[in-house]
Amino acid sequence: MNNFTSVIEYPVTQEVEILSDDERESYRESIKTMLKRENAALVAHYYTDPEIQKLAEETGGCVADSLEMARFGSQHQGKTLIVAGVKFMGETAKILNPEKRILMPTLEATCSLDLSCPIDEFSAFCDEHSDHTVVVYANTSAAVKARADWVVTSGIALDVVDHLEAEGKKILWAPDRHLGHYIQQQTGAEMLLWKGECIVHDEFRATALRELIKQYPDAAVLVHPESPSSVIALADVVGSTTQLISASKNLDNQQFIVATDMGIAYKMNQFSPEKEFIAAPTGGKGATCRSCAYCPWMRMNSLKLLANVMHNTENEIIIDAELAKDAMKPLQRMLDFSSAINQV
Ligand code: 13P
Ligand code: SF4
Repeated sequence: MNNFTSVIEYPVTQEVEILSDDERESYRESIKTMLKRENAALVAHYYTDPEIQKLAEETGGCVADSLEMARFGSQHQGKTLIVAGVKFMGETAKILNPEKRILMPTLEATCSLDLSCPIDEFSAFCDEHSDHTVVVYANTSAAVKARADWVVTSGIALDVVDHLEAEGKKILWAPDRHLGHYIQQQTGAEMLLWKGECIVHDEFRATALRELIKQYPDAAVLVHPESPSSVIALADVVGSTTQLISASKNLDNQQFIVATDMGIAYKMNQFSPEKEFIAAPTGGKGATCRSCAYCPWMRMNSLKLLANVMHNTENEIIIDAELAKDAMKPLQRMLDFSSAINQV
């Protein structure tokens, strides 16, 4: 494993600001007007505030996982994309659409995985293992992507690594060690793992989950693979956000224990209003829990910031053109691979 040991300061997850009905309606209207005027699309991740997900749906934008967000941006005709999510999602949109203007409610919304993988240390790690194929998770900076052979999201990581394993490749994986470990187990691939983690998923606890399963013996357990292996071992379904939403829709169970950011419950409830979605246990407030199943950076995307997105002068994603070109190659490889496997 790598030796990255810097201590990273994380923000505390903020409560969603309570707005009066009038305030909410006024923000909603100004956002809709702005999107129309700018011929812009709102692309939101499943973890954002349900109000933002609803607006993206109502305005012809997209609510999706990180893979689908990347695809949608490339297909949309408009010149401006407003990405509600975290910074790597905005950067991915810019890399794939250099001619478009990419704005975000705030560029402060980042990701612990991205922070855990600074380019200098990562590059040195790659140099030490130059006989390995470098596969990085989408939750990384443009510079880290540019150093990689492949970029993957959780929705496609297993397929890509399976493919590389069949070709006899040794893999250097970064930055999520839990996801890397899961993929290693599933595919049997030879993998060197970077030592990063998602602070949200890393907080799910297996002992408390076992107790919850006893309380809800008929519930299906849905787990995102950024969770620790002891939590993944208790899952009925392990998958990306989209895969977990599909499972909640397609399984007959009436109750689900969900180990991921609970912003996802908006979509799960929309598809299955009669079903019950219970958050998997974390360390708990006052114990070790920093996020309690809500990503602090996703929570920074507020209706207020979104309404002001055109007036903010410091929220456009800018990436050096040469760097973007290098980062585009492994990203495009993922999108091409995804199209190819979906056609067979
Ligand atoms: P998905 O690719 O499943 O949307 O996950 C992104 C993410 O940040 C999970 O924490
Ligand atoms: Fe990053 Fe975790 Fe937040 Fe996803 S939930 S954006 S992996 S910190």
